[in-house]
Amino acid sequence: MRKRVIAANWKMNGTLEQANNLLDAFAAAPLTVNENKIAVFAVPAPYLILAKEKLSGNPYLFVAAQNCYSKKSGAFTGELSVEILKSIGIEYVVLGHSERREYFGESNAFLADKVNICLEYGITPIFCCGEPLEIREADTQNAYVAKQLEESLFHLDASAISKLIIAYEPIWAIGTGKTASNAQAQEMHASIRSVFAGEYSEKVADSISILYGGSVKASNAAEIFAEPDVDGGLVGGASLIADEFIKIINA
Ligand code: PGA
Repeated sequence: MRKRVIAANWKMNGTLEQANNLLDAFAAAPLTVNENKIAVFAVPAPYLILAKEKLSGNPYLFVAAQNCYSKKSGAFTGELSVEILKSIGIEYVVLGHSERREYFGESNAFLADKVNICLEYGITPIFCCGEPLEIREADTQNAYVAKQLEESLFHLDASAISKLIIAYEPIWAIGTGKTASNAQAQEMHASIRSVFAGEYSEKVADSISILYGGSVKASNAAEIFAEPDVDGGLVGGASLIADEFIKIINA
């Protein structure tokens, strides 16, 4: 059975004091996590070790980096390596977020290299995909997302691809308050799963968790997560409000 995953993406937000308060709140909250439903917190890099420590009391809470570089180590000032992440016990990395693609020019090919190095180090990529508004308006979103998957992931074999988590985030829904409808989310998630089934097998496709991201809130989480191909969420803004995110995890 594929896992349910509720992931927080704090992005470039929160002072140390705010991070402490949020992490304390999540560590203390009654959360409905278990071996089939986990929560992952993608915090800014300076708080990774702190988050690991604060959340260590609950075996179903994990910490993720928001990015990493494609090389093991070396003269790459300002970058974060999987070797460093591994050494501090990080098990997940968000890759290919639309903000990385748009503002930092990350291409599908570059992301393929990042996926490879994460898997080499046993770190699970939470691989983001999703279309901009003009693609949605042209109704070519399924092919657009399939190409993102193909160019970054389809060099992997079945056992490697099964280790990934996918996050579908329509760019027009990120931080805009405009969520995809339940039907739009389900339709895309089913399309992504069928692309995996076609390239690999039904079994592989069924094993991959596909998260929805884009203006998920406590008030809409339960209905989106109830769609059959939606296996959880990647949550930005609402993950910075303790009560909201606790409700989303428990939705
Ligand atoms: P949002 O961000 O929940 O603030 O829309 C989601 C994301 O970018 O991961």
